[in-house]
Formats: sequence, C-alpha cells, structure tokens
Amino acid sequence: MLNDQFGRQFNYLRLSITDVCNFSCTYCLPNGYQCDTPRNFLNKNEINTLVNAFASLGTKKVRITGGEPCLRSDVTDIIKQCKNTPGIEKVAITTNGFNLFNKIDEFYSAGLDALNISIDSLNPSMFKLITGHDKLTHILKGIDRAIELGIKDIKINAVLAKQFNKNQLNDFLDWVKHKKVTVRFIELMETGNGATFFEQNHLSGQSVKTQLLAQGWLQVVRGKLNGPAEEFCHPDFEGRIGLIMPYSKDFCKSCNRLRVSSLGKLHLCLFAEQGIDLRPHLNAQDMPATVNAIQAAMGNKTISHELDKRLTGATTHLAMLGG
Ligand code: GTP
Ligand code: 5AD
Ligand code: SF4
Repeated sequence: MLNDQFGRQFNYLRLSITDVCNFSCTYCLPNGYQCDTPRNFLNKNEINTLVNAFASLGTKKVRITGGEPCLRSDVTDIIKQCKNTPGIEKVAITTNGFNLFNKIDEFYSAGLDALNISIDSLNPSMFKLITGHDKLTHILKGIDRAIELGIKDIKINAVLAKQFNKNQLNDFLDWVKHKKVTVRFIELMETGNGATFFEQNHLSGQSVKTQLLAQGWLQVVRGKLNGPAEEFCHPDFEGRIGLIMPYSKDFCKSCNRLRVSSLGKLHLCLFAEQGIDLRPHLNAQDMPATVNAIQAAMGNKTISHELDKRLTGATTHLAMLGG
C-alpha cells in the first residue's frame, strides 16, 4: 500500500485520459478548450503499464477523468482494461454526460462500477448558460438509463456559485426525493483562469450543511478510505446529498488519491502544479521503473493544499489536472 509520512493511505488513482473538453463551463473553460499544438495523450499500452504499476502498489480504485473522457474513441476499451487489471476492484468515470445516454450500456458491459456527472443546475436555461450547451434533458436521460442498468454508485456534481444559486438546493432536494443518486455540492476552487469568477462567486458549503441539518438530514459516517467528501441522508429521500468543501480546515486529512495527467505526469495533489514525469517509463512499458518512480515521489506529498489559509492561490484550470 502507498502511504505518506502523515499516515494517509492511497488506494485510489485519478487518471485523466484527455485535456480536451467540448463544454465551456463558466468556472472552468469559459472560452472553451483551446490548444495550439497537438497533444499526445497516454495510449492504451501506457495506461496499461501505469494501472498495473499502481495496482501492484495497492491501488483498488481507478477514476477515469478528463477534460471530457468520453471524447476519446477508446474510452470503453480503457474502462475494460482497467477493470481487467488484477487488484483493481472499482472503475469509475467522471463525465459531463454529453454522450452518456449513447455510451452507458457499453460502459456497463465493460465493467464500469461508478459514475459521476456534472450538473450545476436542474434549470435547463441556467444549465445552458453555465455549460454553453442545451443538453440537460439528454444528460438526465443518460442518468436514468444508468439507474435502470443497476449502476449503484451514481453521483452528481454541482458547483456552488452565487451565480447559479437560485433555488439550487431546493431543486436538487426535490429531485433526489425519488432518485437513488447522490448530489454533491462542491465549493468553487480558484483556478488560474478563473480568479475573477472565484472572487464574485465563491460560497462556503457550510451554509448548505446548516440547512440540511436543520431539515433533518443526518451525516453518514464514511470509511477511512472514502475520501474527503461528506455525505448526508434523510429517511424521506431515496437519494443523498454530499458536500465537497476543500476550503474547510481538515479536508486534506482524509486524502486517499493520487492523480496522473493525460500526458503521464504524477501529481501528488490537485494543487501540485509540477508533476513527476512517468511517461518515459510508461512508453518503455517498464513496470518496475514506474513502480519505483511512484514510490520515490510519495515522500514529497505535503500535508495539505492549504486552501483554507490562502483564499487566493491559483492553479491551472481543473480540466488540465483531471478535476
Ligand atoms: P469519488 O469519491 O470517487 O466520487 O471522487 P470525487 O468526488 O473526488 O470525484 P469527482 O471527479 O466527481 O470530483 C468531484 C470534485 O472534487 C471535483 O471538483 C474535484 O476537483 C474535487 N476533488 C477531487 N479530488 C480532490 C482533491 O484531492 N482535492 C481537492 N481540493 N478537490 C478534489
Ligand atoms: N471548482 C470546483 N469544482 C470544479 N470542477 C471543475 N472546475 C472546478 C472548480 N474551479 C468540477 C466540475 C466537475 C468536476 C470534475 O470538477 O464541476 O464535476
Ligand atoms: Fe468541461 Fe468539466 Fe471543465 Fe465543464 S467543468 S468545461 S465539463 S472539464
């Protein structure tokens, strides 16, 4: 098992398979994805070496992220390959859902266990304003299909922002009354290209927590290796509500994940800009060298990103680091 000097265990790999995204969410890529030079993302052989190396170090869960991972034509093969890696028990994907309805059957057959979809508003015109795309109804159809197939772990990500906030909590509460999904509200994080948006829109998740507790929601006790999100349930609701509050003091204490960018750099934190380049080892399909490089890096993992202490502290946009 991968450990750090602060007693945390890392059994969870977040793997970005592309930077490219087709949405232009106001807080992430307000001007859409832009890149002048062709990007040579990790291929399936490199991903195979990488995931096997992590699995040999005790990784049990792989989350495939982007950019938008469903833009890669081999995304289903990648899911299958991860799922077939000895030691990997759970394969998840984080997607904007644009192609979910068309893809979810083949993802399920490939062994997908869990699905996170970004929906910042259940109001179609607000959704279009945020993402630049009129896709809400289609995405909701994809989610219904995933439920129908029997995928148990379905989470919706909704970024908390003053601009989106009108009726946001009540709309989502109505929705999860009869829908077996978890809606997680995420505190907006400041990114390099979104400083102004951050200043105008950042909201603390604590106020949502206060409202939930006042309405009889109960905090769920989660296992040590479940990561930093908090979760709440209510006897009258089929679904759950979660909170991801990276600006709260102890957020990083339960960090359980490492990330690899779509170009093969190991990032010890979402806010660790300088990745450690694993690509030469992956390209050579050299498992032992990959394992050594990952192990050697662990000593440099810091206790916290300290977002709670530096309300301004920009990183690149999250699409670049796999969310
Ligand atoms: P699961 O626990 O597997 O569902 O993963 P997750 O909630 O981390 O996955 P998802 O890809 O849906 O990410 C949700 C939000 O959490 C995104 O805004 C991520 O940027 C944020 N997030 C995920 N990991 C970290 C982390 O290590 N640090 C910080 N600050 N934010 C994170
Ligand atoms: N702050 C918080 N969450 C963000 N995401 C993207 N950018 C930000 C940000 N600046 C979320 C998306 C998606 C997840 C992978 O990351 O909404 O659901
Ligand atoms: Fe794309 Fe996700 Fe960024 Fe939206 S938040 S632009 S869907 S990468």
